[in-house]
Amino acid sequence: MRYDDFATEHLDPILPERVIRYIPSAMGSHERTIVILTGAGISAESGLPTFRDKDGLWEGYRVEEVACPQAFRRNPDLVHRFYNLRRAALKTVAPNAAHQALARLQREFPGRVILITQNIDDLHERAGSPEVIHMHGELRKVFCAHCGHCGVWEGDLQTVTSCPQCDRRGGMRPDIVWFGEIPYHMERIEAVLRNADIFASIGTSGQVYPAAGFVSLAKIAGARTLEINNAQTLVSGRFDGQFIGPATREVPQWVEEVLGGNE
Ligand code: OAD
Repeated sequence: MRYDDFATEHLDPILPERVIRYIPSAMGSHERTIVILTGAGISAESGLPTFRDKDGLWEGYRVEEVACPQAFRRNPDLVHRFYNLRRAALKTVAPNAAHQALARLQREFPGRVILITQNIDDLHERAGSPEVIHMHGELRKVFCAHCGHCGVWEGDLQTVTSCPQCDRRGGMRPDIVWFGEIPYHMERIEAVLRNADIFASIGTSGQVYPAAGFVSLAKIAGARTLEINNAQTLVSGRFDGQFIGPATREVPQWVEEVLGGNE
């Protein structure tokens, strides 16, 4: 990776929130790899609450009550209720311009675009993203803790729901990585980060590891790093550049610039 492949320019006074603007002038190579990490902020404008913003999901629930294996053992009904509501909410929302722009980037960029999400919603897929790495699992999938059966699940789950494979009750749970569990696809993620030329982190607060550490791994690998968020985060200082603003505005603009650099 050559750093002189990129140029930065300072703030346009008309857009004061746009801290550094990337000029993706040398992005024409078919060899280039863009790795993107998304978080709850990308789905916020679709109407799904984030976790830590004001009125976020964790404002109404304590993480320990709903998002760890101990909580599921202690009070499975509450955990099921929490995720049943989240699963039902998926049917009331639609992908927004940011999801759509990333799907377009995946389709049109001549190099590789790897999309990793911490989100458990399916808005990237519904926007047309051909491949999404769900490191924290998916709301629309469940698995059986008794036999390991994993499948798509559209309705509610209850403690009495029996497994379609082993027929036992009590083991069916959302296929979601809870606190204390190991995120999915980590080997593959680490491998793609090692090959990243550009790493972009979109709509995530950088408070949950290992995802919060991806920027550092990508930098070690020589990638240029970009954060897109509507606010500063705890990890903003680790990025080479930052676009501050709503994802539905900033992401399509960035995608346009990246694809424009290929012309
Ligand atoms: P957070 O709620 O921690 O952070 C959301 C981020 O999105 C914040 O930095 C906001 O500033 C930003 N944001 C909000 N609205 C935005 C918008 N319209 N445009 C751009 N940015 C916006 O959510 P995550 O970082 O995704 O894990 O949380 C990470 C993990 O913590 C989740 O995957 C979940 C949670 O515990 C598990 O449940 C395992």
